[in-house]
Amino acid sequence: MSFKIQPAAPARPNRCQLFGPGSRPAIFEKMAASDADVINLDLEDSVAPSDKDSARANVIAAISDVDWGNKTFSVRINGLDTPFWYRDVVDLLEQAGERLDQIMIPKVGCAGDIYAVDALVTAVEAAKGRAKRISFEVIIESAAGIAHVEEIAAASPRLQAMSLGAADFAASMGMQTTGIGGTQENYYMHRDGQKHWSDPWHWAQAAIVAACRTHGVLPVDGPFGDFSDDEGFRAQARRSATLGMVGKWAIHPKQVAIANEVFTPSAEAVAEAREILAAMEAAKAKGEGATVYKGRLVDIASIKQAEVIVRQSEMISG
Ligand code: COA
Ligand code: MG
Repeated sequence: MSFKIQPAAPARPNRCQLFGPGSRPAIFEKMAASDADVINLDLEDSVAPSDKDSARANVIAAISDVDWGNKTFSVRINGLDTPFWYRDVVDLLEQAGERLDQIMIPKVGCAGDIYAVDALVTAVEAAKGRAKRISFEVIIESAAGIAHVEEIAAASPRLQAMSLGAADFAASMGMQTTGIGGTQENYYMHRDGQKHWSDPWHWAQAAIVAACRTHGVLPVDGPFGDFSDDEGFRAQARRSATLGMVGKWAIHPKQVAIANEVFTPSAEAVAEAREILAAMEAAKAKGEGATVYKGRLVDIASIKQAEVIVRQSEMISG
């Protein structure tokens, strides 16, 4: 480890973030009854410009009127390139009850974007005497966002989570696809008459994980648009979990259970991690830093790997 110790990310379950348009209050109670760890009511791109004011009013009312249980409750505001975002922040902070946990800032391109929202939020919190400090989550979904991902991850102590937004990201990067996440038909290797599909989101995901882990922020995988394709969603979620992400969005309720399953360490994985920790304890007692577990090397680094799985499991079940 560097002299600079890696900070821990917030210890809260974030396996699934369920989205719903702020303009569709009929589904709010269903969202609250779901098994998602995080609720994101949307004021941004699932709400038509003509509905922005009414969606904002719906969301503010629902924060107090609906029982959101112990979920993290977040509202996605409009982007800083629109005329809507300041009103989203001011009305939410002035009018919404203390149950509001988090604001999601979309399409961030630089640390200054977060600074601007932080300044406004801080002023309204102070003016209104709000007791609870609102946290932030951001979406990396542009070329600028991924180019400046590290300064964004470091931008504010309010920042708790960062998601990859595949659709806007693809558009901003000029990617030739209209798919929202997942396998892309034309992204393949070819050999001996066989196609092997590769993962066009891998680089952006890994960059997000590195920036987040450096600065103690939760890395999250964003939407998977084809909600008829459960196995495609599962494969995408498993790749994200393998890379270090802690959860994934659901844009339809049927995706919640799959995300929860993938991002909860399995009983087998936890049992194996505990066995590795026990094997290393036994090695340590004999004055050894490395030993053999099931025919493979485990050493002091294996303790840290196993602890990631055990800690994640304990945090979720706690
Ligand atoms: N959360 C909770 N419940 C939802 C839901 C959501 N996001 N979306 C739909 N439902 C409910 C429906 O009301 C319906 O309930 P019912 O069985 O009691 O009638 C059930 O789930 C099945 O819905 P279905 O008919 O399959 O979907 P739909 O056509 O009503 O809606 C979408 C499909 C994609 C338009 C809708 O899921 C949605 O708006 N998703 C979120 C979009 C969003 O927020 N985008 C921004 C982030 S990318
Ligand atoms: Mg987007």
